[in-house]
Amino acid sequence: MRISVIGCGYLGAVHAASMAELGHDVVGIDVDEAKVALLGQGKAPFHEPGFEELLERNVAAGRLRFSTDFADVAGARVHFIGVGTPQQEGSYAADMSQVDGAVSALLPHLAPTPEGPPVVVGKSTVPVGTASAVAERVESRGAILVWNPEFLREGFAVQDTISPDRMVYGLSRDEQAADTGRAVLDEVYDDLINRQQIPRLLTDYATAELVKVAANSFLATKISFINAMAELCEATGADVVQLAEAIGHDDRIGKKFLRAGVGFGGGCLPKDIRAFMARAEELGVDEALGFLREVDSINDRRRDHVITLATDLLDGKVAGKQVAVLGAAFKPDTDDMRNSPALDIAARLAAKGARITVTDPQAGPILAEQDRPDLTVAGTAEEAMTGADLVLLLTEWRQFRDLDPAAVVGLPNRPVMIDGRNVLDPKQWRSAGWTYHGMGRP
Ligand code: UGA
Repeated sequence: MRISVIGCGYLGAVHAASMAELGHDVVGIDVDEAKVALLGQGKAPFHEPGFEELLERNVAAGRLRFSTDFADVAGARVHFIGVGTPQQEGSYAADMSQVDGAVSALLPHLAPTPEGPPVVVGKSTVPVGTASAVAERVESRGAILVWNPEFLREGFAVQDTISPDRMVYGLSRDEQAADTGRAVLDEVYDDLINRQQIPRLLTDYATAELVKVAANSFLATKISFINAMAELCEATGADVVQLAEAIGHDDRIGKKFLRAGVGFGGGCLPKDIRAFMARAEELGVDEALGFLREVDSINDRRRDHVITLATDLLDGKVAGKQVAVLGAAFKPDTDDMRNSPALDIAARLAAKGARITVTDPQAGPILAEQDRPDLTVAGTAEEAMTGADLVLLLTEWRQFRDLDPAAVVGLPNRPVMIDGRNVLDPKQWRSAGWTYHGMGRP
């Protein structure tokens, strides 16, 4: 099937390559010329395991190309919209300009194909109510809208796109349009539906939009819940890692997303819960999401907690101290530093006068190219730790988790470790001569 994917960021680029992998003929559209040029050569503009191979293979096979010219969407039966919806400057609400812009640019190119009306498929995370407004616009050009939210995780983006745990189709109230939209998307996802038998839920537009933000809100809540327990553990000398393991054995609760630490970051959870609160307020139901305000505050407090702990461990004098920060990305296996707890903490300690050396296997080189006079970038953990008065592990890359405490204990000026992700073995680190501090652990 001929497919266009509008927006070639994390979501769109991976989606475009994945659709080509499924055998479709795909064009990815983006306004960023440099990104389009890179993608067109089969080169990934960001670090995502498995993505570059997928891209290379499908570009080489001639099933996948990229363009900045919207006219190149002509002839496609399906148009996916995968542009960003970042947090608005000075507000919690989502900035919808990219979605509005993508739809406006797409409209003049929507035309019936020999197989039937074109189908526009929304994948961006949007405030509830967006889809019905977009539907009106695309219907005016004879197209059908399906809202098909994306649940991919960075670091697992390819796997989550080609083999998601579920699919949601938000369909039109018009039965005929709904049937056509569903049938066309079923054809696109034939392998997922018929071979992999992935569950597919058919809903209305509003439900599909809400499923996405509800899922991310639930995940954020789970993380903040365990981080609130970490605060209780810190006040009582209890151990949140054991607590999480013990409650996680109850399969109604489950063990996943109960890792206490410096909290959640990234381009999704933080802005999604805020946009959800902003939308609830517009709808007059802000009380329903009052708890998300608390989820957000608990998350912020984790970063404050690390700053306070670091300040205490530096005897109240941060200025002039040498601090090693292991990690800059918001989580491992990505080079994404959007709303990264690691980078935020590093920058805040630097603002207090600390001399910060950051290292990150993937985000490090990107950081080194940015104009950041407050941060020095080191190539390895060993290099960053050398001469440090304090070491902070803030992104749990395997390289850092696997550090041998005995082998590196001689590197810092003072072997003091804040393990912001609770991934090191306290016993092992202490017996190697380190002063070890975890999050919510005695
Ligand atoms: C998140 C969701 O998990 C995806 O399902 C969703 O599709 C995506 O947002 C999106 O909306 O596009 P992602 O932002 O890639 O995916 O990251 P997560 O794996 O959810 O991690 C988010 C943050 O929570 C990270 O900073 C991570 O370190 C932190 N985290 C995660 C914890 O602090 N504790 C945990 O137990 C789990």
